[in-house]
Amino acid sequence: MNNINDKKTVAIVLAAGKGKRMGLPVNKQFLTIKDKPVLFYSLKAFEESNVDEILVVASKEEAQKIKMEIIDKYKIDKISNIIIGGKERYNSVYNALVVSTNCDKVLIHDGARPFIKKDVINNLLNELLDNEAVILAVPAKDTIKRVDVNGYVIETLDRNQLYQVQTPQAFNYDKLKKAYDSIIEKIKLNKISESMITDDAMILESESKQTLIKVILGNYNNIKITTKEDLEIAKILMEE
Ligand code: CTP
Ligand code: MG
Repeated sequence: MNNINDKKTVAIVLAAGKGKRMGLPVNKQFLTIKDKPVLFYSLKAFEESNVDEILVVASKEEAQKIKMEIIDKYKIDKISNIIIGGKERYNSVYNALVVSTNCDKVLIHDGARPFIKKDVINNLLNELLDNEAVILAVPAKDTIKRVDVNGYVIETLDRNQLYQVQTPQAFNYDKLKKAYDSIIEKIKLNKISESMITDDAMILESESKQTLIKVILGNYNNIKITTKEDLEIAKILMEE
């Protein structure tokens, strides 16, 4: 049992984006797969996992709708708070990190990835006992090339070393928070372009170079719903 003074494991589930690439009037977290909203599935997995607490990050406009149509309706009890997100994904993460007091471990997950399972979450938490950062990834199946701005090939990367990275990503809270503080400062000073930041682990790669980031194998079906095609694929995968 958790004592009230024990340090917690917190999951930050992101749902504060605009879903522009879906091109639909309704934001993607509310679209349904098997009659349930996309965001429901990952919240349910965290609810059933060993995390102590879930923070959902939502836009100001959608926070109430998420509360009523997902959190209350499906009784996701571990959610302690809805945090208002920011302009970019990393702003949304940071807003949640700032309020995650008394937190020992933190997992960060895209609410647009409904196929995450509680066993995988618990596995990440176990790996965090021996590591300060653990991420999920799958080996790249396609050949990947670097291409210049004019559309010509620069080089082919060695596929044996390439992995496609997913969420959740799991971290020692203090390590991640310090790295975030540092990068936020650099962005303010125009020392780093915010468009470079595409996941959380790379903030440690940049600001905490000595921290080893352990990669564990994820599942190819842990897709992020980004476009309409992804939703169609997700509906098929959810039937399985
Ligand atoms: N996200 C967020 N805050 C932002 C931007 C994104 O919380 N300012 C969240 C999204 O809600 C999503 C996850 O980060 O769960 C991954 O982002 P992405 O797939 O890019 O979602 P959107 O930004 O909503 O979509 P798009 O880029 O097509 O507008
Ligand atoms: Mg986005």
